[in-house]
Amino acid sequence: MLPKWYDRWIAENPKDIYGPAILIGVVGGAVLVAALLVTWGRPLPVEAVQTGPRGTGMSVTKFVADAATPDPTAAAYSTVPPVVPQIGDPRAATGVPNAEPLLADLTVANYERLVNQMRIWTGIPDLLAGEENYQTVVARRMIQMTQNLNENWSGHVNPNGNAGVNCYTCHRGQPVPSGVWFKVTPVSNATAGWAAVQNRVTPVSGSTSLPSDALEKYLLEAEVIAVHDLESRVAQNVTDGSSPTWQNAERTFSLMNYFDNALGVNCVFCHNSRAFYDVSQNTPQWALAQLAIGMVQELNNDYMVPLTEVLPPERLGAQGDVPKIGCLTCHKGYQKPMGGMDMISDWPELASSAPPVYQ
Ligand code: HEC
Ligand code: HEC
Ligand code: HEC
Repeated sequence: MLPKWYDRWIAENPKDIYGPAILIGVVGGAVLVAALLVTWGRPLPVEAVQTGPRGTGMSVTKFVADAATPDPTAAAYSTVPPVVPQIGDPRAATGVPNAEPLLADLTVANYERLVNQMRIWTGIPDLLAGEENYQTVVARRMIQMTQNLNENWSGHVNPNGNAGVNCYTCHRGQPVPSGVWFKVTPVSNATAGWAAVQNRVTPVSGSTSLPSDALEKYLLEAEVIAVHDLESRVAQNVTDGSSPTWQNAERTFSLMNYFDNALGVNCVFCHNSRAFYDVSQNTPQWALAQLAIGMVQELNNDYMVPLTEVLPPERLGAQGDVPKIGCLTCHKGYQKPMGGMDMISDWPELASSAPPVYQ
């Protein structure tokens, strides 16, 4: 293969080429890496947002590339400003055949604008077309749920008066929103008690082997979120069930993992991680999360669970339960759903159960 003079030259001048080759390889590699670092800078730059007092190390760190990429479904949002009613404008009750009773007082122009937009937001082209379709029954409840959210939970969904929620916050153009959850426990039928709800990696435990029943215990059943306290096990009364055990702590951590993933943040977005138990060191976001727990419990118990009889079997989970709402259903992995966009100024019909006020 190689020219003859080369083979001859090698045979006449035997040399250990391995030593120098390794040296050249190491030095050359180091020079290359150094050159790349100098020319590229930090290949995956990060940015940190401080969430607590200086010196406590409380900051949420994200890759700049992720932080700069907006939620793609939020970018696809569409809205239509209201038509300010004039005296004598016909109402849907008389102007629209088979108008949805809940919306019959709207003017025809605003009724059509709202129904048309709800069809786009939910991806259901014949939404509210007829009583015989279960989706009409669900949609009616959904309108009331959205009004309730904006009216009674504005402390969470609209604390500064410039956000709020509408159908698109959850649905994003799909009949079944992403980020819903179902009951998955027991994860093991071979055992009972705690062993039956954990040690299997499931989506509701955030792909860990922590308890898989955290969402159903805390976002449906209102069980107290608690970790074992600083008392010794002897001083605690673990037998009468009044003191939280380390298993309650594990379930709490399962929920907390879910919070992190649902919002795309880390623990110090809400806590000072050196003192999780000390409420006075928590951030204002902690209080918003606290409010959200009660809000989500209400959404599930008052709106979703009663739809069990209404939804067709293919919409139900393995245990015959309805799809349930969690933080992820609105947040979709982002700190503020829809990037904190104003979702209700154009839609006074969904802002409250009272007659809409148009300006
Ligand atoms: C807080 C989140 C949330 C909001 C806001 C919301 N929905 Fe829903 N919606 C859900 C969930 C969860 C389901 C259950 C999915 C299913 O039916 O399996 C659902 C189901 C539905 C369904 C039944 C879909 C099907 O094919 O089974 C309709 C229709 C619907 N929503 C309409 C609306 C309308 C209209 C609005 C706005 C007025 C709205 N939703 C607002 C979460 C929401
Ligand atoms: C979005 C805000 C938020 C994030 C992020 C968050 N938490 Fe929490 N955490 C809360 C709230 C709210 C409570 C209190 C719930 C209640 O008592 O009703 C809580 C409670 C706790 C408790 C129980 C405290 C006690 O005194 O019993 C622990 C421990 C905890 N969180 C740890 C964590 C860890 C670890 C992480 C990160 C994996 C985390 N949290 C992320 C909001 C958050
Ligand atoms: C019905 C939809 C919805 C659900 C469900 C929901 N949120 Fe929110 N959340 C919002 C909206 C909307 C905002 C933004 C308000 C704004 O722009 O100021 C928000 C804001 C927050 C913030 C403040 C973010 C910031 O940057 O200040 C926290 C923390 C939060 N939510 C935690 C939670 C947790 C934890 C859950 C689940 C227990 C949850 N949310 C469930 C709609 C929702």
